[in-house]
Amino acid sequence: MLSLKVATDAAWVETAIADLDRVLADHAHCEMKAASNALSLATRHPDNVGLVRALAAIAREEILHFESVLAMLQARGIPLGPPPVDEYAAALRHAVSAESGGPKLGALVDRLLVGALIEARSCERFKLLAERLARDGEEHRELGAFYETLFVAEARHHREFVDLAVEAAGGDRNAVIQRLDRLADREAAIVGACADAPDRATIHG
Ligand SMILES: [Fe+2]
Ligand SMILES: [Fe+2]
Repeated sequence: MLSLKVATDAAWVETAIADLDRVLADHAHCEMKAASNALSLATRHPDNVGLVRALAAIAREEILHFESVLAMLQARGIPLGPPPVDEYAAALRHAVSAESGGPKLGALVDRLLVGALIEARSCERFKLLAERLARDGEEHRELGAFYETLFVAEARHHREFVDLAVEAAGGDRNAVIQRLDRLADREAAIVGACADAPDRATIHG
């Protein structure tokens, strides 16, 4: 799916459904981090107005997602709580900075491609949640429909991050796709390691 090399294992969605409260609280933090990462990247590139505008638009949409998830938490009486550690995102950023193969396109391209991969994985998992919740019938219909709309939005963000990386690489789409392919190998290895962790009731667990 999208640029991902491996599909999420079937056990993840059952773990997530069994602890939906924790998944929703983690999800709220994921949306807030997506907004803050987009703005932090924009802050580093004030001279690139096109990039700043695109990242600000993504951040605005992620904040709307955050507010929607926060409203669901409140409706269910679930506290937001402190942000859980996102081992997946941390490992991905570390692996990308250590990845030396393929074309060298610079730190901005790599940060945009990390964004693209995180969007792709979140998107894949929202789809799994949407399909699983739809099968639960009336009880989870609204939540399933919500994840379906998020699936569409995060798929678009994935494409936007890839397009921004192509622009940052001077229009060399082939080189960006080659780099993305290598980084997707790293992402696949990290997702495989997360599947062996004992505690997986998070969006990226
Ligand atoms: Fe989002
Ligand atoms: Fe997104």
